[in-house]
Amino acid sequence: MHINRYEKFWIILSSLLLVIFAAAVATSSIAYGVQVPVPEQRVDPRLVATPGNLFGEPGLRELAPGRYEAYILSQAWSFSPREIRIPQGSTVTFYMTSRDVQHGFKLQGTNINMMVLPGQVSKLTATFDKPGTYLFMCHEYCGVGHQSMYGQLIVEG
Ligand code: CUA
Repeated sequence: MHINRYEKFWIILSSLLLVIFAAAVATSSIAYGVQVPVPEQRVDPRLVATPGNLFGEPGLRELAPGRYEAYILSQAWSFSPREIRIPQGSTVTFYMTSRDVQHGFKLQGTNINMMVLPGQVSKLTATFDKPGTYLFMCHEYCGVGHQSMYGQLIVEG
């Protein structure tokens, strides 16, 4: 089969680009430890934040020294709790849900970045070796107060 040489050139170039892109995705996901949030469990958004339920008392729970779970409830337009304090070197598993509309959760300086959906619990884990203030914010437009939906995680050295 005869292939015009210009056509051959573009076939090779575009195939090469695909290989380069695939290598870039593989390298960055290994080097930066990309985590894909999976739905942890289904919940009833009307009940999830009521007393006795999973997010009835959102906040930090200590499992063992240096090992925590953070239950953070999202609602228009705030996170509960708005501030979390942990000691340096702690590992925190974040559990997130929304009681109303779709929100987002991005924790700056880490690879924590997930969508927060009503009816679903999202889960990701990070270890905090550097002391400092890590801001978190909603990154899914959720209404007129979206820009005021933020908080902070303080790692105490
Ligand atoms: Cu919540 Cu934007």
